[in-house]
Amino acid sequence: MLTIRSTGPDQTQSVAKKLAALLQPNDLILLIGDLGSGKTTFTQGLAAGLQIDHHVKSPTFNIVNEYHQGRLPLFHLDVYRLEKTGGADMGLEEYFNGGGVSVVEWPKFIAHELPAEFLQIELQKSEAINDDEQRKLVLTAKGDRYQQLLSDLAIKLKE
Ligand SMILES: Nc1ncnc2c1ncn2[C@@H]1O[C@H](COP(=O)(O)OP(=O)(O)OP(=O)(O)O)[C@@H](O)[C@H]1O
Ligand SMILES: [Mg+2]
Repeated sequence: MLTIRSTGPDQTQSVAKKLAALLQPNDLILLIGDLGSGKTTFTQGLAAGLQIDHHVKSPTFNIVNEYHQGRLPLFHLDVYRLEKTGGADMGLEEYFNGGGVSVVEWPKFIAHELPAEFLQIELQKSEAINDDEQRKLVLTAKGDRYQQLLSDLAIKLKE
């Protein structure tokens, strides 16, 4: 586990950019946190770090937005709207095995469809009212690949 403090959106995106440089095909990142905690903001930094110069917005009509112009494909899934139905029979594994990087906002709504190994990033807002831009990023790895990724990121963040 790795905990990182962020004092604003730029800092959250800077962490995401450093992570992006370490990503490999079929990597999976789960983003957890309340509404407005910064999941999409983080994804924007990740996209920039993958050299995708396209404005990343949350998928509105679709569940998934795909970006193919960067170092690796980026599949941005926001599955909030699957709260009631779940994600069975939607072919989501095509993204997870699709040779790109998959980022999932609200992964708890597709818990049954998720691969066993991933990097989870929880964005926690500060309790203090005058601390609008403070976030705590708590990163947890499941599986060897993601343990390695996390330790590589820890080194990169110290550089
Ligand atoms: N340290 C920070 N890290 C990330 N975002 C921050 C930070 N401080 C302030 N913000 C702001 O918080 C908001 C986060 O919005 P964002 O859409 O990224 O949240 P989200 O977690 O994706 O929400 P949703 O669950 O609705 O999809 C943005 O307006 C961003 O500028
Ligand atoms: Mg979002």
